[in-house]
Amino acid sequence: MCGIVGYAGTAPANGTSTPAGHQALDVLMEGLRRLEYRGYDSAGVAVVAEGGIAMRKKAGKLANLTAELAQRPLPDSMTGIGHTRWATHGGPTDKNAHPHVVDGGKLAVIHNGIIENYAPLKAELLQQDHTFVSDTDTEVAAVLLGDIYRSLPDDGSADGARLTRAMQLAAQRLEGAFTLLAAHADHPGTVVASRRNSPLVVGLGDGENFLGSDVSGFIDYTRRAVELGQDQVVTITADTVAITDFFGAPAEGKEYLVDWDAAAAEKDGFPSFMEKEIHDQPEAVAATLLGRSDLEGKLTLDEMRIDADVLKTINKIIVLACGTSAYAGQVAKYAIEHWCRIPTEVELSHEFRYRDPIVDDKTLIVSLSQSGETMDTLMAVRYAREQGAKTIAICNTNGSTIPRESDAVLYTHAGPEIAVASTKAFLAQITAAYLLGLYLAQLRGNLFQGQIKDVLADLAKVPAKIAQVLANDGQIKELARSMADTRSVLFLGRHVGFPVAMEGALKLKELAYIHAEGFAAGELKHGPIALIEEGQPVIVVVPSPRGRDSLHAKVVSNIQEVRARGAKTIVIAEEGDESVRAHAEHVFYIPETTALLAPLLTTVPLQIFACELATAKGYDVDQPRNLAKSVTVE
Ligand code: F6R
Repeated sequence: MCGIVGYAGTAPANGTSTPAGHQALDVLMEGLRRLEYRGYDSAGVAVVAEGGIAMRKKAGKLANLTAELAQRPLPDSMTGIGHTRWATHGGPTDKNAHPHVVDGGKLAVIHNGIIENYAPLKAELLQQDHTFVSDTDTEVAAVLLGDIYRSLPDDGSADGARLTRAMQLAAQRLEGAFTLLAAHADHPGTVVASRRNSPLVVGLGDGENFLGSDVSGFIDYTRRAVELGQDQVVTITADTVAITDFFGAPAEGKEYLVDWDAAAAEKDGFPSFMEKEIHDQPEAVAATLLGRSDLEGKLTLDEMRIDADVLKTINKIIVLACGTSAYAGQVAKYAIEHWCRIPTEVELSHEFRYRDPIVDDKTLIVSLSQSGETMDTLMAVRYAREQGAKTIAICNTNGSTIPRESDAVLYTHAGPEIAVASTKAFLAQITAAYLLGLYLAQLRGNLFQGQIKDVLADLAKVPAKIAQVLANDGQIKELARSMADTRSVLFLGRHVGFPVAMEGALKLKELAYIHAEGFAAGELKHGPIALIEEGQPVIVVVPSPRGRDSLHAKVVSNIQEVRARGAKTIVIAEEGDESVRAHAEHVFYIPETTALLAPLLTTVPLQIFACELATAKGYDVDQPRNLAKSVTVE
């Protein structure tokens, strides 16, 4: 939610480019291009140049800012900040776009997050005769920072010490979530930032340094990154990175090497990131499995920093996540309970801490978050830790906040997910959750080693099977295109097929803006069947006919029930399941696998369906309206 980038390079030689080879504006615009998935309501940049701040900002996507810059270029500069916005306070207009420039044009500020005490601060600043031009909480922070800056003695140094001190003092007064970046005309080589409950990463270059909401903000220039802690201020120049807490005490960041490069964040010839990421899924699952078990099926999860004895004593698991990640959690619940016999609940993170949940030191919290920055999940994890629970993060983003604040982390290795709608991260999360379930079962002796080995062998075959589904996507794409005018689609599933149905519905809603709902097929007759009328499309995820408990037969009955009432039935079934043909207008077959692993395959046609249908309607599948990746506000 909101993309932030900052740059400090070395002074331009002869007004052309810096010795490090980069103009601030080029770095900022490249960073914003890569961070645009975090918000695309407006974009803006400010550079320090010619003794002042030069700024351009524009409502709408980054392309509007690019056009504005072509009309009104910015001067050469070695220092600057850039922002791409997902609107919270104040509509998506030019005036509410960041940067906010205050103090007679000398101070530029950008912000991600929500400043919860902005109203009393604004009232206080208004009383001091400050004026505001926007409706944002950010401008309040900018004016406050400027006010504090001017109240500090001018130490005459250009190194930004005064701006750093002002940022520390301003941060002490702010409540809520914020990453703030500031550049000041009096400190031409410096960018100062602060963070609380909102992401910020430092990029280390050679004669230049960077700031980004995540590493994609500077991945074109460096893979050396520094994780920042909670409540920290960082000051970058071309050659220095200094970190303190909000009170000025020096602090350390944790340096790491990003394990992907700029090429991994390109479309690779696909028309959209989403299509590319759907096609990345065989590798995403394979990479998540890689190196985590030996030939005997013994799992070793190196990142598992929770003592085995502690894990043996837990008596409850609560999975915390939102959106697609929560559906991955629901799939995980079936597997974990089946393999480990530990009661497992799945809870939407934003509901969790408000219902006085029963959590203690025998509770294991498993958080699922692609970004590792989702504020709802972060707050839920913090709450659970305060109650004494042990916390494990399943996360796709190295160095992000949720893993840093958890007792242990199990990284998914899906690579960067740029499209706003999650695809490959979902399959990778399910895969990692399976590994966790098997690991707990191994530790607690719920499964024999041979049984674990068998599941791992089945899992190892999944990437090739996903590739098979992808290779046969013609039929589902054709159906999707033919349904571009559909107004509503229902999805049905049972057992692990239920969360898959909900995920299929979510993908269609968020990409194609079509009303879609996922139901447990058994729930149909308790109400939702009233929705069925002539021609209503119903997509049914059918379990394997080889499964237990005659689940297959029950789902086939459910298909017949809706068909008898006029529904147009579309079925995802296992290869060789001829029994469904008689009851469906369209059948899409997926390769055979075990009941618990089926979501890794049945989800894929639903992703393709939503992506193709939205594309047929002319929508931007990478940047659906009103959404942003990484929801860093509650
Ligand atoms: C939907 C989607 C969202 C995210 C949710 C949680 O396609 O991507 O529902 O799954 O916002 O995000 P993370 O996993 O980053 O915590």
